[in-house]
Amino acid sequence: MAATDLERFSQNADPEPRNLSLGGHVGFDSLPDQLVSKSVTQGFSFNILCVGETGIGKSTLMNTLFNTTFETEEASHHEECVRLRPQTYDLQESNVQLKLTIVDAVGFGDQINKDESYRPIVDYIDAQFENYLQEELKIRRSLFDYHDTRIHVCLYFITPTGHSLKSLDLVTMKKLDSKVNIIPIIAKADTISKSELHKFKIKIMGELVSNGVQIYQFPTDDEAVAEINAVMNAHLPFAVVGSTEEVKVGNKLVRARQYPWGVVQVENENHCDFVKLREMLIRVNMEDLREQTHSRHYELYRRCKLEEMGFQDSDGDSQPFSLQETYEAKRKEFLSELQRKEEEMRQMFVNKVKETELELKEKERELHEKFEHLKRIHQEEKRKVEEKRRELEEETNAFNCRKAAMEALQSQALHATSQQPLRKDKDKKKS
Ligand code: GTP
Ligand code: MG
Repeated sequence: MAATDLERFSQNADPEPRNLSLGGHVGFDSLPDQLVSKSVTQGFSFNILCVGETGIGKSTLMNTLFNTTFETEEASHHEECVRLRPQTYDLQESNVQLKLTIVDAVGFGDQINKDESYRPIVDYIDAQFENYLQEELKIRRSLFDYHDTRIHVCLYFITPTGHSLKSLDLVTMKKLDSKVNIIPIIAKADTISKSELHKFKIKIMGELVSNGVQIYQFPTDDEAVAEINAVMNAHLPFAVVGSTEEVKVGNKLVRARQYPWGVVQVENENHCDFVKLREMLIRVNMEDLREQTHSRHYELYRRCKLEEMGFQDSDGDSQPFSLQETYEAKRKEFLSELQRKEEEMRQMFVNKVKETELELKEKERELHEKFEHLKRIHQEEKRKVEEKRRELEEETNAFNCRKAAMEALQSQALHATSQQPLRKDKDKKKS
């Protein structure tokens, strides 16, 4: 649509809708019911991330929360780095289907160097956001039946030391707080006394505030739950006890941990905050956690990612965002960058060729010089050999001359000695 058409449309748009009363029942008051029915048919997904050191009671608490036994294996204490292990289960309560994913941060806190312990967790959360973003950006998207794996809540298990938070806890929570709803819980709360627990809770909250860690606050804007949520916010961090064991208390079987000195009942609010956690996490705020994940954490990820890719809501002159214009601008930028790179490569190639040519010429010159040098040496040698040969020839000639003279003398001498006896014989005969 041309820009002028758009302007005309926006000018003609009625700014004030008129109020009309209906003559009778029309039926759109069933919209909320339609929405509920559609959601129920579609089913829900809820993803919990459990972060806490090995053996702190993560799996036991999950089993206690959902009143079932999820198949989990114990983690070893010798993991080289933190590893995220997601497991998905299909649960049903009444006619509501829930696809529950529990993600365990296996090996958390077990490494000697814990500087990077938070990184695999952050990367995992980002990867789930990225998958969702990619699905959203597809031409043919199917968000309706997309299995949303974005983490809706992170249960951060605090070790019940009674002292203060470890720096690993603070660093990890700080790194996660802009990416996920964090609910801090004090694990194995049966190992800490009542008065110590009270002080411990105050200390933890103080440390979180002074380090600027944002934890999830139960929402107080909906009147129906504002009061209970406000009360529960004051109870954070929840001190929980987990157990799937059933113990007989009075004439009732309850989930509890039995010790020689007594029984800790999981669902007794005087014993621990398990009920409060279940109430807040599952029964009251599950939808808010899902919504906050989408509207706050995912939105932030999406905005940063799109800005990184060069998209903006408005340009410098406050013009509204246009996908086509941004795309064109990006494409031009990309093409000119490509051209620049091509030219750079070409120039580099030419320079390289020139350099190689020079090197070759230099080598050729060196070779030529070497050849000339060798030639000179060869000629010199040849001349010397020639001279030697000539000298030898002269010597040979001289020797031959001397030899011939000697032979002549010898033959003369021989001739002379052979003549002497003959003469003596002749002389004797004469006498
Ligand atoms: P990994 O998955 O191996 O990291 O362990 P985990 O954090 O899942 O702990 P798990 O639930 O396997 O519990 C470890 C041990 O702690 C078991 O012996 C549990 O019985 C015990 N445990 C779990 N919850 C509690 C609790 O609330 N209080 C006490 N005292 N012990 C608990
Ligand atoms: Mg476990």
